[in-house]
Amino acid sequence: MLIDTYDRVATDLRVSLTDRCNLRCTYCMPEEGLQWLAKPDLLSDDEIVRLIRIAVTRLGITEVRFTGGEPLLRPGLVSVVERCAALDPRPRMSLTTNGIGLKRTAVALEAAGLDRVNVSLDTLRPDVFKTLTRRDRHHDVLAGLEAARDAGLTPVKVNTVLMPGLNEDEAPELLAWAVEQGYELRFIEQMPLDAQHGWKRDGMITAGDILRSLRTRFTLTEEGAGERGSAPAERWIVDGGPHRVGVIASVTRPFCRACDRTRLTADGQVRTCLFAREETDLRGALRSDAPDEEIARIWTLAMWGKKAGSGLDDPSFLQPDRPMSAIGG
Ligand code: GTP
Ligand code: 5AD
Ligand code: SF4
Repeated sequence: MLIDTYDRVATDLRVSLTDRCNLRCTYCMPEEGLQWLAKPDLLSDDEIVRLIRIAVTRLGITEVRFTGGEPLLRPGLVSVVERCAALDPRPRMSLTTNGIGLKRTAVALEAAGLDRVNVSLDTLRPDVFKTLTRRDRHHDVLAGLEAARDAGLTPVKVNTVLMPGLNEDEAPELLAWAVEQGYELRFIEQMPLDAQHGWKRDGMITAGDILRSLRTRFTLTEEGAGERGSAPAERWIVDGGPHRVGVIASVTRPFCRACDRTRLTADGQVRTCLFAREETDLRGALRSDAPDEEIARIWTLAMWGKKAGSGLDDPSFLQPDRPMSAIGG
């Protein structure tokens, strides 16, 4: 079991499959991209499947999320999913993606055993999309979303980060669209995880701002207590239901006390938190033929270092050295 010193138990594993991406969202990466991990430093597909097997069979992990960078850029993704689906116990599996490659892969991913997807989309306006991601791929994301829904990778969730002066006025429009399309929309407060370290708290659109904006057009009723569990998103029932909208308020309403996560970077480091400043190496152990129990032991010990919270409110808060795209969302 992956338990920390605050008695939280990690049952949810987020695995970053690559630090690369085919978009350049301004809140994540600079135009020129980043210094990518070198191929030999990345875990191989076999190494990833082995770590997930250890997590599922020895450490109590029940949910596996594949992330990136952009996880669909990983050539072996479908086969990794297929091999994980054959594990006993079989973990629930989901993918967080920018959606661009889904049109091509949704059917194969569903057939391989993927349960559902979350797709990032910050705007319904192609020109704003281009400004925000520095790529003209809005249409591909919409097509990817439809492909995921049609393939049954449901519920399809849409992640939206609102930013002042760019898309802050789009919340009601986005929700009307998501209700019509049958996607579950979640608004995310922007976090200080951009590679350029440009985040400012006063520039951020807060959960309060988002709810105020949505209520100009919709009646929102808070979902009953107990339905949230350890999910980062708080949810509201839209116009009496059945549709829901979520807000992930990592900054103004942190949910660290209920955190049930552990993370693996694409180069085989355990991170106990998005905002952790320390990592624990598993790749070295994998490559020196350590037995499963030794790898499980290192991972278990790493979790003892998990901090109480993100530390975002501490005056001494320091952004992690790795940007979001290398941590895996
Ligand atoms: P589901 O609702 O189960 O699909 O998962 P999720 O919302 O956790 O996953 P997703 O990958 O879609 O992430 C949505 C947002 O939550 C992203 O901005 C993530 O960076 C953020 N997030 C995920 N895990 C954590 C976490 O442990 N702490 C914080 N603060 N944010 C997180
Ligand atoms: N703050 C909040 N969310 C972010 N994402 C990427 N960078 C940030 C940030 N700095 C979102 C993406 C994606 C999810 C994995 O994280 O939009 O939906
Ligand atoms: Fe790519 Fe996601 Fe970063 Fe955008 S936020 S550049 S889609 S990794």
